Amino acid sequence: MDFSGKVVVITGASSGIGAACAAAFAQHSAALVLVGRNRPNLERVAQQCRELAGGEPLVICADVSVDADVERIVTDTVDKHGRIDVLVNNAGITSVGGLGGGVAALDAVMATNTRAPYLLAGLALPHLARSRGNVVNVSSCLSTKPNTMLMPYCMSKAALDMFTKCLALEAGPQGVRVNAVNPGPVRTEIFRRAGVSAADNERLYAGLEGALPLGRVADAAEVADLVVYLASARARSVTGACYPIDCGLLLGENTTI
Ligand SMILES: NC(=O)c1ccc[n+]([C@@H]2O[C@H](COP(=O)([O-])OP(=O)(O)OC[C@H]3O[C@@H](n4cnc5c(N)ncnc54)[C@H](OP(=O)(O)O)[C@@H]3O)[C@@H](O)[C@H]2O)c1
Repeated sequence: MDFSGKVVVITGASSGIGAACAAAFAQHSAALVLVGRNRPNLERVAQQCRELAGGEPLVICADVSVDADVERIVTDTVDKHGRIDVLVNNAGITSVGGLGGGVAALDAVMATNTRAPYLLAGLALPHLARSRGNVVNVSSCLSTKPNTMLMPYCMSKAALDMFTKCLALEAGPQGVRVNAVNPGPVRTEIFRRAGVSAADNERLYAGLEGALPLGRVADAAEVADLVVYLASARARSVTGACYPIDCGLLLGENTTI
């Protein structure tokens, strides 16, 4: 898989799965555009990418829940590179709670996990059509597995899956593919950022490791490998697909995240 000359935009590249995607695309010689809010973390990831591949990533500090910032992601990328080949909509957050969490939690989660990919893909689509590029949305296996403690998150990812399929249908005739990956649990900062204590976070992942059919959770790098495959020419016939990478979570009755 060779991404030489290809421009790959990754949102949420400053941490977790997005940072792993940055490293993986760097190793396949992509020109990277790294998006996030935390500049020091973005610069750290950019430095790792330079060390891996020698390229010079474009770092864009942007909040994907702010429309003007999303517009800037596209204009800054096109100003520098003149093209977009791959968009990885990875930035995401969760709240912890069900209906009692209130509508503000739903609004915040939907703004980042669903509305931002919709807006960004729409702005990037003319450029993707020119390059016959593609979109990979980082969804979740919770898009199809209800969880009362992560209700807005599950809703946001169910919508993201449907967006993936609808956009694949709309953009296919322009030569643009659209797919999703649907990870199970991966050790990242996502629950800590939602207010889960370090001890509870550790208990959560340890419990999941024991309960999952494969007896382990996936690494961010494994999810990144799947993203890179879907974005590559090897997957040129794949569109509208939502790929679980969940160590068997969706198979089990007793595997509640
Ligand atoms: N970890 C899991 O178990 C798991 C499972 C299934 C799916 N996922 C999905 O994987 C994706 C990445 O999450 P992660 O697990 O890697 O979590 P993470 O370590 O918390 O990383 C989240 C990333 O999203 C960025 N982000 C969040 N809100 C943003 C905003 N408003 N604007 C710009 N960037 C924003 C963060 O960047 P800044 O801090 O720089 O803003 C960070 O780079 C998410 O879509 C998540 O739903 C994760």
